[in-house]
Amino acid sequence: MARQKILLIGANGQVGHALQTALAPLGELVCLTRAQLDLATLPTSDAVPEALLEQVQSCHPTVIVNASAYTAVDRAESEPQLADLLNARVPGWLATLADQLGACLVHYSTDYVFDGTKPGPYVESDPTHPQSVYGRTKLQGEQAVAFACSRHLIFRTSWVLSAQGANFLKTMLKLGQERDALTIVSDQVGAPTTAELIAEVTAQVLTTMLNGPASAQDPRWGTYHLVASGETNWFAYAQYVFKNARAQGWPLKVTADAIKPIATADYPVAARRPLNSRLDTTKLRQTFELELPAWQSGVDQVLSALKAG
Ligand SMILES: NC(=O)c1ccc[n+]([C@@H]2O[C@H](COP(=O)([O-])OP(=O)(O)OC[C@H]3O[C@@H](n4cnc5c(N)ncnc54)[C@H](OP(=O)(O)O)[C@@H]3O)[C@@H](O)[C@H]2O)c1
Repeated sequence: MARQKILLIGANGQVGHALQTALAPLGELVCLTRAQLDLATLPTSDAVPEALLEQVQSCHPTVIVNASAYTAVDRAESEPQLADLLNARVPGWLATLADQLGACLVHYSTDYVFDGTKPGPYVESDPTHPQSVYGRTKLQGEQAVAFACSRHLIFRTSWVLSAQGANFLKTMLKLGQERDALTIVSDQVGAPTTAELIAEVTAQVLTTMLNGPASAQDPRWGTYHLVASGETNWFAYAQYVFKNARAQGWPLKVTADAIKPIATADYPVAARRPLNSRLDTTKLRQTFELELPAWQSGVDQVLSALKAG
């Protein structure tokens, strides 16, 4: 594979941070963070804003990877314009620029594009029906990417965790050290997926795509579900975290008996979540001959990384 020039946007997020390591062997990596360009300041024009155009064109990327997003799911309900800018418009502009430059674009999306009413795991072609501003704007971002740039990869993932950044596992560890008792939602089902797994699979898929001719007509460009194997719910996930954290010697205040399951309906939040977040990964595994590890191994890795400091 020829050495690539990769522009990574959102390099300080959970996935972005892991991508810095995973993408480094593929070529020259240029990171664009909020410090260089605050995406929230871009005008909401149809044309690509000058500030973004300059940053991207000056890099001359062969690959653009967009790990930036507005990920505050509940806050998005009261900041729909900002969520729309970050999650829908920016990906569309990046896709336009990638197409103009002959680059390919990697983008990330979410299980929240679905409404969660399907009885089984969702496949890529299932009808979307987002229930929140976050889900709707992420879906619009997917559509804008697919419309503007044929050579795109969109990875839908769920329940991201890593030692870097904010996530459910880190919130549980903090609360478990502060509180005697906790109630945790038990009727939302999905797969905790590490940022490191997402980044490693991204690098593997990109390597495969860029090794061959991979023309714009190559049917392997497109949308894939990328989550760890297996499934759980938030309550069982938290129990797993506490059991292993206790074994590792974390100073937990909460006892196993003092963690209680509750229903989503009894935990009011601003944004509606899908009860079924299960994503079928057959297309990704078969197309790229990949194996995806069990979610528990990712949780173990993040706990160990946090313990090691
Ligand atoms: N987290 C999840 O559970 C989850 C689940 C499903 C899908 N996803 C998707 O996976 C992708 C990566 O998520 P993540 O968990 O890595 O998100 P994250 O940790 O919240 O990172 C988001 C990144 O976007 C950047 N960003 C946000 N607003 C910005 C702005 N105004 N200007 C410039 N940069 C800005 C952040 O910069 P700063 O570091 O400066 O804040 C950060 O680098 C996203 O597409 C997300 O929708 C995430």
